Amino acid sequence: MQTVNYEGLEAKLYDLIWENEYDDEAFYSWLLSEKEGKTLEVACGTGRILVPLCQQGWDIEGLDASQTMLNLCVQNAKSSGLNPILHHQKMEEMSLPEKYNTIFLPGFSFQLLTLRKEADQALTNFRNHLNKNGQLIISTFVPWSSLQSDESENTWRLRKNTIRSEDNAQILCHEAVATARQEQLLTIWNRYEVLSPEGKLLETELRRMYVRWYFKNEFLLLLEKAGFKNIETFGDFSSEPAGEEHSLITYRATL
Ligand SMILES: C[S@@+](CC[C@H](N)C(=O)[O-])C[C@H]1O[C@@H](n2cnc3c(N)ncnc32)[C@H](O)[C@@H]1O
Repeated sequence: MQTVNYEGLEAKLYDLIWENEYDDEAFYSWLLSEKEGKTLEVACGTGRILVPLCQQGWDIEGLDASQTMLNLCVQNAKSSGLNPILHHQKMEEMSLPEKYNTIFLPGFSFQLLTLRKEADQALTNFRNHLNKNGQLIISTFVPWSSLQSDESENTWRLRKNTIRSEDNAQILCHEAVATARQEQLLTIWNRYEVLSPEGKLLETELRRMYVRWYFKNEFLLLLEKAGFKNIETFGDFSSEPAGEEHSLITYRATL
C-alpha cells in the first residue's frame, strides 16, 4: 500500500484546506517549552506549524517525503523572513547527522505509515535521533464518528468550500471515507476542484490515501516496544490526559 505523495493540487491547496481546521499551534509551543533546544518536525509539510513556531523563536528543522511540500514550506518561511533547515527524507528511512531535544509529528502524519514494519522502523529512527533527555511527540486521531455510524461510509461530503484570495477562485474539497474496522485502516478519497470566479472548472484532482488508526492502549504498547518511557497522553490538544471524550490523542514520551 503506497503512502500518499502530497503532490499536485493536494499540495498546492493544503494550506487553504487545513486553515483553521485545528487549533494546535499553542499546544505544540507549550510542549516544546519543556525541552528547549534543537527540534525536528517530522513530516513538516508546508510549515503550517514549523513556520509560526520558528517565528516565535524555536529552533526547528523540518523533514518531509514530498519535495513539493518542502518547496511550499521554503516559500512560506521566506515570506516570514525565515530560512529553516529542511530535509527531504522519509521518516521510515531517516538518517540525519544531528540529534534533537524534541522530535514531533503534528497533523497525524505518523498514521500515513500503513505497514507495521514502517511504523516500527520510524519509531526506532526517532529514538536514534533523540538526545538522552529528549522527547518524542506524536499526534494521532481515532475516527470515532466513522466507527459509531455507517452513514458517512462511501458518501461524498463537501469538506471545504472557500475562495482563494489571490485570484478569487473557488476551491472545493470533497471527501469520502471507507472504514476497515478489523484492519484499523481508513481509505480516504479527496476530490479537489478549482473554479474560476465565473464558475468554470480550471483544475481538478482525485486522490486516494490510506490512514492507519491506533487505539490508546495499542499505541502505548507500540511506544514501549520501541524503547520509549514516561509516556503521557493529551486529549484534543489540551493539557488533559486523553480520555473517553477525546478523539485526538497526542503522545509524549522520553528515552
Ligand atoms: C497531513 S500532512 C502534515 C503536515 C504538517 N505536519 C501539518 O501539521 O500541517 C502530512 C505530511 O506528511 C508527509 N509524509 C507522508 N508520508 C511521509 C513519510 N513516509 N515520511 C515523511 N513525511 C511523509 C507528507 O508529504 C505531508 O507533508
